[in-house]
Amino acid sequence: MKNQKTATVVILLSVLNAFLCAAALVTWQLSSSAAFDLALVLILFFAFFVISFLVLYFIYSPFIFNKIKNVQSDLSKILPQNEIPDTKFQLDEIDPITQLDLEVKKITIARQKELEHLKNVDSYRKEYLGNVSHELKTPVFNIQGYVSTLIDGGLNDPNINLDYLKRADKSIERIIHIIDDLETITQLETGSLELEFEKYDFSAQCRDVLEQLDMIAKKKNITLSLAKKFDKPLIVSADKFRIRQVLVNLITNSIKYGKEGGVTEIGFSLYNDEVIVEIKDNGIGISPEHLPRLFERFYRVDKGRSREQGGTGLGLAIVKHIIEAHQKSISVKSKVNEGTVFTFTLNRFI
Ligand SMILES: Nc1ncnc2c1ncn2[C@@H]1O[C@H](COP(=O)(O)OP(=O)(O)OP(=O)(O)O)[C@@H](O)[C@H]1O
Ligand SMILES: [Mg+2]
Repeated sequence: MKNQKTATVVILLSVLNAFLCAAALVTWQLSSSAAFDLALVLILFFAFFVISFLVLYFIYSPFIFNKIKNVQSDLSKILPQNEIPDTKFQLDEIDPITQLDLEVKKITIARQKELEHLKNVDSYRKEYLGNVSHELKTPVFNIQGYVSTLIDGGLNDPNINLDYLKRADKSIERIIHIIDDLETITQLETGSLELEFEKYDFSAQCRDVLEQLDMIAKKKNITLSLAKKFDKPLIVSADKFRIRQVLVNLITNSIKYGKEGGVTEIGFSLYNDEVIVEIKDNGIGISPEHLPRLFERFYRVDKGRSREQGGTGLGLAIVKHIIEAHQKSISVKSKVNEGTVFTFTLNRFI
């Protein structure tokens, strides 16, 4: 017998069969003029039990097992290798019907999840394509407008020719910026971007980025500063180029969404073998309902304001990907009209 449970079922069915036949014989004996013969009833009971048992054991049970094997071999043709139910294990140790039922349920759940995932991917793809074309439309239409005007005679008008060419050039720059960001995101998402870890002085890198962005900050009268106590070297192990991208994105945001005369400060604190980095501003802030989606691609709190500033909503998505590629995390806290703090960690080299 293939397993205990099946054996029990076959025995019970045989007993039931034998009992029904014996009962039929007793009923016939009692209702007819024939004398009640207990020995005959017992012999018949035993004979029917043996016959039922043999039929179920040698014919019916293997027939079911064969059917199950066929179903499993059909399943194995349509399923990836790791989802094929383990036939031998099932038939030898567990009731095969229950096991097959479990496997089919497992497969159904897996398929439902896969379907859900595919639906998400599809809606993400549609949304992504929609966003990309939407973002590219504005600069492309601008270029078309300037070039058409120049072709229609503007080229000979000294009042506009150079100005329009410069504007078209700005729109081209914007397209290049969007394409660069999209390329970075794709590389980070597909895992084709390999980080190049090195040990370097993070506080020197922060000072350098602040110095570079100081000109833009000054236009808005914003002061950029580094926490005083970290004038000393702070060696981290990270991808220097990518972390620079993170700092530039976060500090540029603090300027773009900062208030006239505001302050942006980079602060550090040390915790075990990590450095916790905080980039804090006292700008316009973000209301709580936007915070959960802030790191999504193309997500902007105020689309008009962001686009005015040349934003695409890809900056924070890139930042998050870079930090996560370092096996670290980033979080945000913000209060409308008070300011925003972005916090992330990096591995220290001690
Ligand atoms: N420091 C900040 N203060 C207030 N709002 C912010 C701050 N940083 C980000 N935001 C909000 O989060 C949105 C997403 O930021 P993100 O950097 O991803 O995009 P962006 O700055 O609009 O464009 P870009 O792709 O050029 O970075 C911004 O549009 C802005 O609304
Ligand atoms: Mg940004």
